[in-house]
Amino acid sequence: MVTINAIALAALQVPLATSAEAKPCPPCSPKPPAFILAGDSTTAVQSAGGGGWGNGFLSFLRAPPAWGVNKGHNGATTVSFVQGGDWANVTELIDQKNAEGFQVWVTVQFGHNDQKPDKNISLSQFTTNLATLAHTIQSHQAHPILLTPLTRRSFPADSPHSAKDTLHNERLATIAAAARDDPATGATTTLLDLNAASLEYVNRIGSEAAHAYNLKPDDETHLDDWGSVVFGRMVADLLLESEAGKCLGPWIRPNATLSQAIRDGVPA
Ligand SMILES: *[C@@H]1O[C@H](CO)[C@@H](O)[C@H](O)[C@H]1NC(C)=O
Ligand SMILES: *[C@@H]1O[C@H](CO)[C@@H](O)[C@H](O)[C@H]1NC(C)=O
Ligand SMILES: *[C@@H]1O[C@H](CO)[C@@H](O)[C@H](O)[C@H]1NC(C)=O
Repeated sequence: MVTINAIALAALQVPLATSAEAKPCPPCSPKPPAFILAGDSTTAVQSAGGGGWGNGFLSFLRAPPAWGVNKGHNGATTVSFVQGGDWANVTELIDQKNAEGFQVWVTVQFGHNDQKPDKNISLSQFTTNLATLAHTIQSHQAHPILLTPLTRRSFPADSPHSAKDTLHNERLATIAAAARDDPATGATTTLLDLNAASLEYVNRIGSEAAHAYNLKPDDETHLDDWGSVVFGRMVADLLLESEAGKCLGPWIRPNATLSQAIRDGVPA
């Protein structure tokens, strides 16, 4: 009886265990994390020409011992970021931070410029470029995090709770890229669906509250300092809720009030 139950249980547990282990996550590490943020102006430091969620995210790190740097580049695409030398700097930094004893994570978020017709980057090329960046990160013994692109805060007239879904295709392409396991190592990429989370949030709070985060009154793409903190918190929470980020809690300061406001869909 016991034997039969054990066999039945084992038979049940094999497929469950296999599916749970099919996507191995970065191991929980006693090393502090180093975060390198790669992307365009919607990740970048606040400046006259851009500003994203990056610095807001980094503001939540318990640094030191954690560490982070914002390498977002205004106007960048998945092509220009590599051709212009930003990517070589990122990979050099990965090696350096690994050597210093950190567990290294690299966020990658593009789409706002890749989608511009004059860039001539097809969606399939965009997908391949993102997957290649992720696999390069893995080849440097670091952990890639692909993020779907932060929503723009552009609303059709008379639709304050229905922002234009202008990055729909880039979101799907990013999801597809994250699903491509590294052919060399079989390692997997963490996906954070920032596009869906940010679109849902701005639709819930409405256009007027969403525009309070604008870098400049008429700039519905870039974030001011507080907008960076709010959407940086959203990224931190998406990461902490992800399978890969489940051990990062000790390194990321909470702000329960802010997290709750985002979850409740009320202006922060
Ligand atoms: C890469 O790093 C070098 C050395 O710090 C710096 O001079 C250069 O501007 C960086 N390149 C880019 C594209 O940021
Ligand atoms: C756009 O990219 C395609 C594929 O790489 C290339 O064949 C074509 O010449 C490019 N067009 C322009 C206008 O650059
Ligand atoms: C947490 O977020 C709230 C807004 O939700 C803000 O007023 C407060 O200053 C933040 N606290 C810290 C310690 O940053």
